[in-house]
Amino acid sequence: MKTILVTGGAGYIGSHTVVALQDGGYQVVILDNLCNSKLVVLNSIQKICSKTPVFYQGDIRDRTLLSKIFNNHSISGVIHFAGLKAVGESQSQPLKYYDNNVAGSITLLEEILKAKVDTFVFSSSATVYGEPGASQYQEDMPTAPINVYGRTKLMVEEILGDSAKANPGLKVACLRYFNPVGAHSSGLIGENPVGTPNNLMPYIGQIALGILPRLKVFGSDYPTPDGTGLRDYIHVDDLAIGHVLALDYLERNPGAITVNLGTGKPYSVLEMIATFEKVSGKKIPYDLVERRSGDLAEYYANSGLAKAVLGWQAKHGIERMCEDTWRFYSQLGAQGS
Ligand code: NAD
Ligand code: WQD
Repeated sequence: MKTILVTGGAGYIGSHTVVALQDGGYQVVILDNLCNSKLVVLNSIQKICSKTPVFYQGDIRDRTLLSKIFNNHSISGVIHFAGLKAVGESQSQPLKYYDNNVAGSITLLEEILKAKVDTFVFSSSATVYGEPGASQYQEDMPTAPINVYGRTKLMVEEILGDSAKANPGLKVACLRYFNPVGAHSSGLIGENPVGTPNNLMPYIGQIALGILPRLKVFGSDYPTPDGTGLRDYIHVDDLAIGHVLALDYLERNPGAITVNLGTGKPYSVLEMIATFEKVSGKKIPYDLVERRSGDLAEYYANSGLAKAVLGWQAKHGIERMCEDTWRFYSQLGAQGS
């Protein structure tokens, strides 16, 4: 049985991927410093899979700990989720982001090479494209991220690409996620950010629970059918499967690959609200307000490469994304969290 090190495995996308890996027959070792997650997620993973991953609480920048993990376990590949992801905070505290996301990835990569682990899957983001001039993003389009967070992702992609060239044994997949939403169908794991959410679906979830009063819909004058922004929302379980397929791909193929993970079908903010209201029976009051700085009207994935090379295609549509988000939030509400 192969063992995969999952950095950031206690986080939102990481925890769903740990479930998919364990369901797919992998052993999992998690390294997470819990700066944006809670230990309780391990109990939830145990409930879902009847199997608990090995857990190390610590930082990807801790070389000694990394070397201990590689000595203690026969790791065959690494999926690297650990990172900071708040766009606004990345602008106000750039060094924190370059240190955590870029320096952290370099330390991890150095230790991986030392330990002769040859497979690396990296959480990148559609944000690396910036504003390429077309709404449908394809992997070979120019990249020009417009914020520090996006630049950290692009830098790590480039560092990995250069390292794969210099180390012919190293196999790398950079996965560019679009807008991950939803939760595991058990409702046991999902996205529950610390503090007021920046992203649309956790904000809607907290309104449904009565924690937040109303949603601000940022911009209603975009050149889109209903005037609100269009995004390629992707169910987190589809995303998780994409990582398992990326590992399969790397087993057969050397070199480095960069792949979009999105559905290719965008939805507007008002469509997300209406669908959430329909599946939850909860009213989501909202106000149409000014555009949010840095937002684009519309972007979505060309997901052809993911289908061609990974055999991956998103299965879950907007209703399932909203149903699963609501199941997760209603269970949180029942626990009084
Ligand atoms: P998350 O914050 O829920 O998970 C990240 C995890 O990494 C957390 O558990 C956190 O405690 C841990 N972590 C952060 N820095 C660490 C460090 N230095 N050492 C050890 N652990 C550390 O975020 P997520 O939404 O699950 O995102 C996972 C990855 O996917 C991130 O790299 C993020 O940039 C990327 N990504 C996320 C989205 C999104 O919209 N959620 C979109 C594209 C890419
Ligand atoms: C979605 C839509 C908003 C909140 C971000 C990051 C990106 C990637 C995914 C990591 C937009 C609108 C939102 C609200 C709103 N993350 N909205 N009211 O901005 O597309 O992408 O997450 O890599 O890098 O930038 O996601 O969920 O914030 O917004 O009207 O309170 O919802 O304007 O149209 P975004 P989001």
